Amino acid sequence: MPKITLTDITKRWGDFYAVDHLDLVIEDCSFVTLLGPSGCGKTTTLRMIAGLETPTSGRIEIGDTVVFDSERGINVPANKRHVGFLFQNYALWPNMTVYQNISFGLKNLKKYTKQEIDEIVQRVAKVVKIEMFLDRYPSELSGGQQQRVAIARTLAPEPEVIFMDEPLSNLDAKLRLEMRSELQRLHLTTGRTFVYVTHDQMEAMTLATKICLIENGVLQQYDPPLTVYEKPNNLFVADFVGSPSINFVDAEGKQAEDGTMELKVLGGKNAKFRFTEPVKMTEWRQAETRADEELAAVRAERAKHKDHVEKGNKDKVFDYPVALVEDTREKTEPTSENYVIGVRPEMLEICEEGGIEGEVYSAMPTGMETTVRVRIGNFLLTGVVFGGVTYEIGSKIHVRFRDNGIMLFSRLSGKLIGTGGLEV
Ligand SMILES: Nc1ncnc2c1ncn2[C@@H]1O[C@H](COP(=O)(O)OP(=O)(O)OP(=O)(O)O)[C@@H](O)[C@H]1O
Ligand SMILES: [Mg+2]
Repeated sequence: MPKITLTDITKRWGDFYAVDHLDLVIEDCSFVTLLGPSGCGKTTTLRMIAGLETPTSGRIEIGDTVVFDSERGINVPANKRHVGFLFQNYALWPNMTVYQNISFGLKNLKKYTKQEIDEIVQRVAKVVKIEMFLDRYPSELSGGQQQRVAIARTLAPEPEVIFMDEPLSNLDAKLRLEMRSELQRLHLTTGRTFVYVTHDQMEAMTLATKICLIENGVLQQYDPPLTVYEKPNNLFVADFVGSPSINFVDAEGKQAEDGTMELKVLGGKNAKFRFTEPVKMTEWRQAETRADEELAAVRAERAKHKDHVEKGNKDKVFDYPVALVEDTREKTEPTSENYVIGVRPEMLEICEEGGIEGEVYSAMPTGMETTVRVRIGNFLLTGVVFGGVTYEIGSKIHVRFRDNGIMLFSRLSGKLIGTGGLEV
């Protein structure tokens, strides 16, 4: 099976950049999810790889074949790229049986005998467990069964790469969960490369071998799901993945001689942040400045190109949310002494004593776990406690931060500096 390589791919309409200089390598046999908010450029990216949309510039290779190159004027048509595409609004032909729906594309290929077609249909129908419905019409199937027919139809011509654009978005929560595990199995049993578009971070987390997170056409992070969760590149990524959302806490201070960060948090409380892997802030800042300069140089170089168009949909530093009882947050210009601490809900330990005193603001038990919001002065922190624990709203409670998974971000750039432990 081939790997897919995108080099400096851009798609713009006028000065609107739907995809902005994207470099991406989709490894052989991987399951890559394209994730990001609505309108960030996921479908456009997928359509460009499939050959349904022409990039403005850049190069795309599938295996050893260059299927698109703006410089050399190469553009291989979609039907020669050996990719299967399953759209969000899959439409089965209502006047054909399941068998006919699956075999239709195969007949059109004119390369199989009747018997071969029959074997393929039986095989893919078995894979998605619809072999007992082959004589039925789509209207005689449930939504999930129809969905599986659509998947079987995509698999039948044995595409080397399978693209799916939000294929489960029409299903109810339970069926989605079931289909997710089917898709995961399907990926294993077929050994194909899957590229899967979703704006559901949970789906992206659970299915992918690698998540490609995009915002405003720009790649934010391309890593395995747990890396994205535990070491997000920046505030945007940290906020986008995880449910309930990560807690952000403003912090201000300096690095001490021994390498710990001495910070003021949660309305003037003294805190110490200890890096798990040592970071020297002066060096980190220098590297940050260098990276900014390099990016500026690349941009300046691009601007010299005769076809250059200034990006209309400007990129902004992510405006991270801080949960407050009353919104009194002043908009100040950040300095190099401003930081943002990121605390995943499961990193907040709720205890009887010690740590910081607060009170229960709300508690939402689901049976398996309870989401608790704790009020500390004007600040709200969300924690998750395993099991059905009941909390009385307004009662006194204490919180601590668990060791090592706490994140420290630069407020200037929004980038992750490192992870560690926080003591308040
Ligand atoms: N033909 C077009 N002309 C102009 N702008 C377009 C065109 N097609 C798409 N866009 C814009 O490009 C951006 C990216 O679109 P795309 O369909 O890739 O988003 P998406 O990430 O798939 O979003 P969603 O999750 O809502 O499906 C959107 O802001 C969209 O408005
Ligand atoms: Mg889309």
